[in-house]
Amino acid sequence: MSTSGLFSEEHSAEVVAASFADTPDPRLRQVLTSLVHHLHAFVKDVELTEEEWAVAIDFLTRTGQLSDEVRQEFILLSDVLGVSMLVETINHRSGGTATESTVLGPFHVVESPPRALGDDIALDGKGVPCLVSGRVTGPGGEPLAGASVDVWQTNEDGFYDVQQPDVQPAGNLRGMFTADGDGRFWFRSVVPRYYPIPDDGPVGQLLAATGRHPYRPAHLHVIVAAPGHRTVTTHVFVADSPYLGSDAVFGVKESLVREVPEVDDPARAAELGLANPFRTLTVDLSLLRDDRVQPGAP
Ligand code: BEZ
Ligand code: FE
Repeated sequence: MSTSGLFSEEHSAEVVAASFADTPDPRLRQVLTSLVHHLHAFVKDVELTEEEWAVAIDFLTRTGQLSDEVRQEFILLSDVLGVSMLVETINHRSGGTATESTVLGPFHVVESPPRALGDDIALDGKGVPCLVSGRVTGPGGEPLAGASVDVWQTNEDGFYDVQQPDVQPAGNLRGMFTADGDGRFWFRSVVPRYYPIPDDGPVGQLLAATGRHPYRPAHLHVIVAAPGHRTVTTHVFVADSPYLGSDAVFGVKESLVREVPEVDDPARAAELGLANPFRTLTVDLSLLRDDRVQPGAP
């Protein structure tokens, strides 16, 4: 009997990786082989103790137990480890030619209600009034008439409607808009507020044990889509928000930060149906062509 394939500390990664050698799916084989090499190198690097390994197993078990269709603690773990942002970033490279993407987050759990241009999405009437407007364009700056602009944000207390079903009206601060013939969209809202990610589970314990805060800087979520173009899932960050430099989930990209200047113009406010003074957030969105779409495809 040959014993060259038996487990040893020195060759542990090679021995385990070899057990996957006959995996029919080449991508699965590649991913598992790499994972085993990195995982074994990590265990050797820190000389993991049996107690630490048991703590890790317990942590991951509790992370799974807390996850269901409304609470996804594993995604949150990926978020605070920067893995969500890394996967997002390497899968949406645009070379600076389109609006940059960032994490989707866990609060897009309901469909945004269709809204008309100019509507007020602040159904509870609270917060600092804000006119949000912008234009959706293609790679050459051409307007994308009829593009869809799906938005959601927190209220002035830093909560999404789905987190406070007994406090906020359903659909508060959410909306699905359709850009006009010139690619333009506009709506009334309030300035979003910074907020903590859910930190009452294992991920919160990880943050506390490492001296990290759970906050995300104030942002408006946007998913912008147009036929024949690559959909962009992104945020617009409020330039004067706390935590811009230390987002708990590493979602901030410089190109996504916008000033939200105050306008003191009673006549303009009355015309828009906003209280005076109000703030303005301008969100221009640029999409790449989707080269996976064949010309003439439906
Ligand atoms: C959010 O922006 O809604 C979010 C993203 C990642 C984790 C938690 C919240
Ligand atoms: Fe958010």
